[in-house]
Amino acid sequence: MNYKRYTRFPQVPIQNRTWPTQIIEKAPIWCSVDLRDGNQALEVPMTLSQKLKYFDFLVEIGFKTIEIGFPAASETEYDFARYLIDNNLIPDDVAIQVLTQSREHIIARTMDALRGAPKAVVHLYNSTSTLQRDVVFNFGKKECIELAVSGAKMIREAIEMDTSRTEWFCEYSPESFSGTEPDFAVEICDSVLDIWQPTKDKKAIINLPGTVEMASPNVFADQVEYFCKNTRWRDRMIVSIHPHNDRGTAVAATELGLMAGADRVEGTLFGNGERTGNADIVTIAMNMFMHGIDPELDFSNMNRVVEMYEESTGLLVPVRHPWAGKLVFTAFSGSHQDAINKGLKRMKQHPDRWEVPYLPIDPRDVGRDYAPIIRINSQSGKGGVAYVLESNFGLQLPKAFQKDFGVVCTDLSDKKHCELKPKEIFELFDDIYVNVKFPYELSGYREDSLDENHVNVEANIKASDKLITIHGKGNGLLDAFCDGIEKVLNRKFSITSYHEHAMESGSDSAAITYVEIEDDQGNKHLGAGISSSVTKSSLRAVVSAMNRMITKEQSKK
Ligand code: KIV
Ligand code: ZN
Repeated sequence: MNYKRYTRFPQVPIQNRTWPTQIIEKAPIWCSVDLRDGNQALEVPMTLSQKLKYFDFLVEIGFKTIEIGFPAASETEYDFARYLIDNNLIPDDVAIQVLTQSREHIIARTMDALRGAPKAVVHLYNSTSTLQRDVVFNFGKKECIELAVSGAKMIREAIEMDTSRTEWFCEYSPESFSGTEPDFAVEICDSVLDIWQPTKDKKAIINLPGTVEMASPNVFADQVEYFCKNTRWRDRMIVSIHPHNDRGTAVAATELGLMAGADRVEGTLFGNGERTGNADIVTIAMNMFMHGIDPELDFSNMNRVVEMYEESTGLLVPVRHPWAGKLVFTAFSGSHQDAINKGLKRMKQHPDRWEVPYLPIDPRDVGRDYAPIIRINSQSGKGGVAYVLESNFGLQLPKAFQKDFGVVCTDLSDKKHCELKPKEIFELFDDIYVNVKFPYELSGYREDSLDENHVNVEANIKASDKLITIHGKGNGLLDAFCDGIEKVLNRKFSITSYHEHAMESGSDSAAITYVEIEDDQGNKHLGAGISSSVTKSSLRAVVSAMNRMITKEQSKK
């Protein structure tokens, strides 16, 4: 690759930068540019009705400023602005913002589009970078400033003459700020503000776009801090940033830009926008949320946000998209599953403080379920399998079962090259361990207590079509049952571990018993039994373990 054609980005002449030690403590003023920057980047731009629906949705999420288009550039965008205003569809506390170039007829048409809105931001821009001045406009700094200043004057006059109810706000963007000499960016913005004469009570917005992301996000932060420190109007302006994502770091640039002094962020949901997109407001807001900061935007139903976005833009949110993708609260790896499982259990001790390994937030805070968090494939481990069985079916697998069955699941998933769904896992567990009926099946039993410490048991066991009756004696039901089996079936083993629990709440609930038995060779075998009676479930568990032992022995022969 011919990297020699490219040049390193110059350092920003800033001394004693302070942004690296700043902390983001509150949400910025958000401005959605989905309906302008986002929409203009779509292969098929939104229709009027799609724009209306999306506008309502942006309002519902909590945006108070929404850039709705470039009305002088297209009839649809003009009509959209007028439709919103003429039908009173804009809440009083929401400002609509539109983009305009610095040309008289464009500004006049822009004002016509906005007149009558409760609040309107007229957003003037012209390109200021060295490259654009040279290649596109073929003019110097002086002409570039004149262009911005003439637009600023026209807007001021138009606002002064307006008699509608609209409360007007002014915004200026030195487009391609990221490629503009830092001192020139200050000079041109200050010249615009000299015309607008903002006050502390009525600030103007200066928007610093990373029109093309040209360097690492620390450089953008340097540019923003340089600007904030050198402008004459800092206390009478709202500093806005508008990063694009060419190098894939628009979110980082936004966060560092906020640390560098920006008050406001322009971006889009999921970062839709020109080329690699704008800064993704969902990610930036959720990053704040995970630090305990109120993002002032409501993403508590993330699935709906994704649906609305995909339906309106025709684009897809990738499965690994931060906070919103289908797989972002899912763990496939066994060690992750195990840690999540333990973390979720520990949460019961401190429900008000979220701390779960591998889950930076509680998925329920964005309207997601726990169900798909842990999914089972060949990378999964015993913890994940145990979690799936417990959370979906209430089974609390003892350690030995977790280990044994974990291997069964990962092997099967590996063989099938696919994920195992919870139902499939439960059925597999049931098939392998529960109420195993071959070669022996418990058909009935009777227990008599001999004295306080001893019982007699008589049980009927089916083997093919034969019914065998066994009699045993011991210091408990299971002990007596094992004694009977040894005497009649000539099978010797002892029970080395025993667990039982109810499977559902309620008086007629089923119980499950898990046993581990050890044969006279020291080999261990697992079995489980389910029944509405706890004692029956325990005998079934012993028969299951014995049957599995016999089958294993026979397969070795
Ligand atoms: O990216 C950009 O520079 C823009 C401006 C028009 C603000 O979208
Ligand atoms: Zn942009």
